Amino acid sequence: MAERINAVKTTFFGKGALGLLPQELIKMGIHRALIVTDSFLYESGAAGRVGDALLQGNVEYAIYYQVKPNPTIDVVNECIHAARELAVDLLVAVGGGSAIDTAKAVSIVVANGGSVEQYEGVDQSVKSGIPIVAVNTTAGTGSECTSFYIVTDPVKHSKMAMVDTNCMVSIAIDDIDFMMSMPPKLTAATGMDALTHAIEAALALRANPVTDKDAYWAMEAIFENLPRAYVNGQDEEARSMMAYAENVAGMAFSNAGLGMVHAMAHALGGHYNLPHGVCNAVLLPFVMEFNGNSPVVRERFKKIITAFHIAGAEQMTSEQAFQTGVSAIRDLSRRVGIAESLEKLGKVDPKDFGALADLALHDTCMADNQILPTREQVIQVYERAFRGNVG
Ligand SMILES: [Fe+2]
Repeated sequence: MAERINAVKTTFFGKGALGLLPQELIKMGIHRALIVTDSFLYESGAAGRVGDALLQGNVEYAIYYQVKPNPTIDVVNECIHAARELAVDLLVAVGGGSAIDTAKAVSIVVANGGSVEQYEGVDQSVKSGIPIVAVNTTAGTGSECTSFYIVTDPVKHSKMAMVDTNCMVSIAIDDIDFMMSMPPKLTAATGMDALTHAIEAALALRANPVTDKDAYWAMEAIFENLPRAYVNGQDEEARSMMAYAENVAGMAFSNAGLGMVHAMAHALGGHYNLPHGVCNAVLLPFVMEFNGNSPVVRERFKKIITAFHIAGAEQMTSEQAFQTGVSAIRDLSRRVGIAESLEKLGKVDPKDFGALADLALHDTCMADNQILPTREQVIQVYERAFRGNVG
């Protein structure tokens, strides 16, 4: 089968990587930009530091700083209005997935017209979006290097998943100077999101040798470095490896697809406004237990536990490897303080599981799962995740 691999044209990695941006902007001939960020990054001065780099690149700028976690259609529309009013030729996202996804949505609608809702699904736009620079401040979503973006519909309490190569950013910046101050909770949630990207990409129907190389390497790096970055946020080596790993995991899933964890997490996060990474982390072992019904998934867990550096992995049967792998994921989650059940998140009500299952089954990510579950099976996985690992 013929396969297409997409990648961001330019990514600047490492401490001080923002310093490489001005020269690149001069080459691009950009004049006017809108920084898209949240109020915290605006007040902390992070957006201003990016603004200084824009000025050095001869780009004047304004700042939109009303991005919220799980950005809604309203936020996107407000930002589209600002971008049009100012007639900008560049969007500069400063933040994690929420800011970068908002910029992607704005970029597509400004270039193609219409409303953001009409771009739900796969490759629904005609023209490339206006250029985006993404200054990533978390080590998790991989949004700076993927063709995915998510917008929440606040009326339906649901998330729309868009997969569109026209939304990919022009320049991604993974500079750990913007990541060092992430608090442990955010480090854990975003890091577990990245691990979920790597695992789902490795198990996805569209996984191939190129995406596998990225997916298994990212798992290895995250397994080793996430606990270190969680315990000591000032560990530059661990932060740096997490920055590479989340980007590489992003490239893996951008080209291989995701699966049932993300489909169920989008429904959950959209309905209760819960952090995306936490939803994934809690659901991950329970969805894996369900996906273990697929012999392909069980077989691939032998490679997954090798990436986790679990002793004796080579001698294990696929059944042993699968059980060991799911336990190792649970253990990592526990070490970085992730809740062990949906009940512990406080907002989740089992009465909603039927409606959430309907949303999950219609999510774009579900199509890449090895097994297409029934509605009843999705509800059962939500129920098991709600109760937690009770044996
Ligand atoms: Fe994700």
